[in-house]
Amino acid sequence: MPARIVSVINMKGGVGKSTTTVSLAETLAVHHRRRALVIDLDPQTNASIMLAGPDKWNDLREAERTLDFYFEAYALQEKPKPFKSLVEHKVTDLKGKPDVALCAAAPEFRIVERDMIENFVKRGFHIDAIQKWICERFAHGLRSVLNETDVVLVDCPPGISLFAEAALIAADAIIVPTIPDYVSRLGLITFRRRALRLINERRGGPSNLFVVATKYDETMSLHRSEAGLLKDNLGDAMFDVRIPQHVDIARAAEWSDSPRTFEQKYGQMAGTIRKFGDEFVAKLEVAHAL
Ligand SMILES: Nc1ncnc2c1ncn2[C@@H]1O[C@H](COP(=O)(O)OP(=O)(O)O)[C@@H](O)[C@H]1O
Ligand SMILES: [Mg+2]
Repeated sequence: MPARIVSVINMKGGVGKSTTTVSLAETLAVHHRRRALVIDLDPQTNASIMLAGPDKWNDLREAERTLDFYFEAYALQEKPKPFKSLVEHKVTDLKGKPDVALCAAAPEFRIVERDMIENFVKRGFHIDAIQKWICERFAHGLRSVLNETDVVLVDCPPGISLFAEAALIAADAIIVPTIPDYVSRLGLITFRRRALRLINERRGGPSNLFVVATKYDETMSLHRSEAGLLKDNLGDAMFDVRIPQHVDIARAAEWSDSPRTFEQKYGQMAGTIRKFGDEFVAKLEVAHAL
């Protein structure tokens, strides 16, 4: 089964989840002609700002087209506008307007999540019922946009929140960006076990969980050996491509007002990101553009 919904998740922050999500969406659109939709579930809004730029992101917030407004409506027991209307097409600062779309987050998402839970608790709902409800609403929203996209990439917040769990459960496949060091490997083993159990409990059936080494420093023997260990343990579930710690990747995150080519944006790392996209398409059997 080709993967349509892919969640990018890791308990840890700062491992390159948002950077990986954005660059993957861009290479899929530019080099594979896939229509990619990034859903930003993180109130830190990094992916939203990287993809829309500060001006368009502000416009989306003013037009109440960010995820917090969608779920706030539910918290207030009002009917939200269609999930589809949150999707902003043709974002990114890349030349040629590649098919990258965004469903943006805002910092208020944090408060909305809390208010929503509070509201449900007051009405006597149990936490499991709240989780189930969030999963259903989220999955319903995702389904409503699947006809206008080939692959949905969900950029998750660090830690485990109700929304991160919903993204885990809704996904056909999961990508876990991991810095290859000892502490991260231990964290990854625990997280992987928990994630797989959760998905199997809620959905039944096998799930695809893939790991990609990020912020990889080839000059560090620790990174080399830890990345090797991960590969030995995970086999095909580990990407062969390792995303290096490189200034050109950090720089690409900054919005450019004048459109640039993929090579201009990612500099020396353009080839690596492209290979990551190639491997992603092969591993996850991403559906061909319609
Ligand atoms: N491969 C990389 N090389 C250099 N800097 C990176 C790389 N990946 C991420 N970064 C930087 O590290 C920080 C955290 O990355 P981010 O993608 O926001 O992580 P997360 O989403 O997991 O919190 C950002 O400042 C980002 O620019
Ligand atoms: Mg992030």
